[in-house]
Amino acid sequence: MRVLVVKDYEAQCRAGADLVEEAVRRRPDCRLGLATGSSPLGLYRELIRRCREEGLDFSRTRTVNLDEYVGLAPEHPQSYRTFMDQQFFDQINIDKRSTYVPRGDRETEESLAEFRAVLDQGSTAVQILGLGADGHIGFNEPGETLHARAHVETLDESTIRANSRFFENRDQVPRRALTMGMGEIMAAERLLLLISGAGKEEAARRLLLEDLVTPRWPVTFLRLHRDATVLLTRDLAERIGYRENIM
Ligand code: GLP
Repeated sequence: MRVLVVKDYEAQCRAGADLVEEAVRRRPDCRLGLATGSSPLGLYRELIRRCREEGLDFSRTRTVNLDEYVGLAPEHPQSYRTFMDQQFFDQINIDKRSTYVPRGDRETEESLAEFRAVLDQGSTAVQILGLGADGHIGFNEPGETLHARAHVETLDESTIRANSRFFENRDQVPRRALTMGMGEIMAAERLLLLISGAGKEEAARRLLLEDLVTPRWPVTFLRLHRDATVLLTRDLAERIGYRENIM
């Protein structure tokens, strides 16, 4: 696991964009694994800028997203499909038919079968990940066990609370979500974890300052990946007492 401590959020976005750009330039028809949430927003903004100003070409790129809320149709304002369209896809030259976000509004078994089939269709060059305060990646919530494959997850109270900022109130946050499983995340050729936002200290500490791999902190599985990059800002590194080259 490569850990890069960068100056600030802007530097984190640029470093993340470098990694994605490298994959797209090397293989223009590669598949990218994408995430929602606040953490990757600046990374998407930087990729949009590079597409517009520097000719970074997404016309042959394919994407698959980590997760989607159960019960929200793609056109729902808070769906992850809407998020991806607005924050990224509609602003770059990607063919929208090559982008996949799992469907939260269908019979769940049908959606899961489709999601798994898409994941099986090829490999992901770079999987972008954010981090939940409880250590989740995608929507793989901590517990005694984790799922290898795409499944439906019941969201933890802390996740519902954290994500309620995108909804009018807490009651509107869906209680369940479809998510890629840990095995599908780990199968990506490269992982890129962006740690940013409030309340991530404990999860970051578990990942960066300990050696345990535990389903209680799903993000710790990144240590088992052969090409995982973690990007965090200097202030977070200082807050948790992480010194470069600790591991
Ligand atoms: C949600 C998403 C995760 C994301 C996490 C952190 O729960 N399902 O994929 O990584 O939130 O989000 P943020 O970056 O907004 O803190």
